[in-house]
Amino acid sequence: MSGPGVVGREDLMSDDSKSHGIDSATTPLRFAAMSVEANRGRLITRGSWPDSVTLRRGWARAEARPWNGDHAEASMRLLRGGSPFLSACTDTVTGLGATGVLSPPLPTGAQKVWRRAGYEVFLKLALLRLDLMKPIPTPSHLVVEAGVECLDRIAEIDAAAFDSFWRLDHRGLTEAVEATKNARLLIIRDADGQAAGFAIVGLGSAIAYLQRVAVHPDWQGNGMGRSLVRVAGRIARSHGANAVLLNTQYDNDGALALYEAEGYRELPEPLALLRI
Ligand SMILES: CC(C)(COP(=O)(O)OP(=O)(O)OC[C@H]1O[C@@H](n2cnc3c(N)ncnc32)[C@H](O)[C@@H]1OP(=O)(O)O)[C@@H](O)C(=O)NCCC(=O)NCCS
Repeated sequence: MSGPGVVGREDLMSDDSKSHGIDSATTPLRFAAMSVEANRGRLITRGSWPDSVTLRRGWARAEARPWNGDHAEASMRLLRGGSPFLSACTDTVTGLGATGVLSPPLPTGAQKVWRRAGYEVFLKLALLRLDLMKPIPTPSHLVVEAGVECLDRIAEIDAAAFDSFWRLDHRGLTEAVEATKNARLLIIRDADGQAAGFAIVGLGSAIAYLQRVAVHPDWQGNGMGRSLVRVAGRIARSHGANAVLLNTQYDNDGALALYEAEGYRELPEPLALLRI
């Protein structure tokens, strides 16, 4: 799972016009004026690296943070703006010490603006979909909702379960929780009451996003991953979603086997992380 792991972000849904938040077909003059505005003036950076930084120029806006505590690359989110703005943001972030900059997982339609700024495909990710019209079997574990106070333990599980490139630190996990307006953090507790596994499910209106699932290696192979995936699907359905989306690395055989066994089907078009 990317995001390294986050599928349900504004970036994912944006194509060029959506990322500007403007319908260029119906408002060409306003669009042109704003593009010119975005390409001049000073880039304003708020925040101090290696904390997250917000970058603005005119109406254009991006956010960057270190990829994670182990890798000196940056993770960039382009909220509004075009390639010249993205290039300027990239220069600023590398000037702050990032050794490279990675996009979020992007569908083909949203990659153009990044490619024009010099980014290239770094890794393709499988995009999977669960149809919530089908029944979801009963989970075998008690899965409960947890609050953000659990994030330190969740970060420990994440660090133990994922290899160093894919692990999300506290900041990345917070971003995964906040990537959609509404989200649930789900955990399974061990006999001592400590979280042994977790899932983050983002709740959109029709589509939910399984942002992250991990089980501590001490507990893997006991069906906890399966229970977390089932409960995430049930919660998504109870909030009105008709499908759940997630992405994962093509070589994550365990996760792919789990998702496919739980009814997820791979969509024809992969997502991609782009890098510069
Ligand atoms: C993927 C993960 C969440 C699975 O959790 P788990 O509790 O170990 O999995 P379960 O015991 O519920 O296994 C359910 C099914 O998943 C599949 N599976 C799980 N681990 C597997 C592995 N290492 N190899 C092959 N299949 C695997 C099997 O189909 C299994 O069913 P089976 O036991 O009847 O064969 C866990 O291995 C993990 O945290 N991995 C690292 C983090 C990660 O990759 N998360 C997913 C990101 S997309």
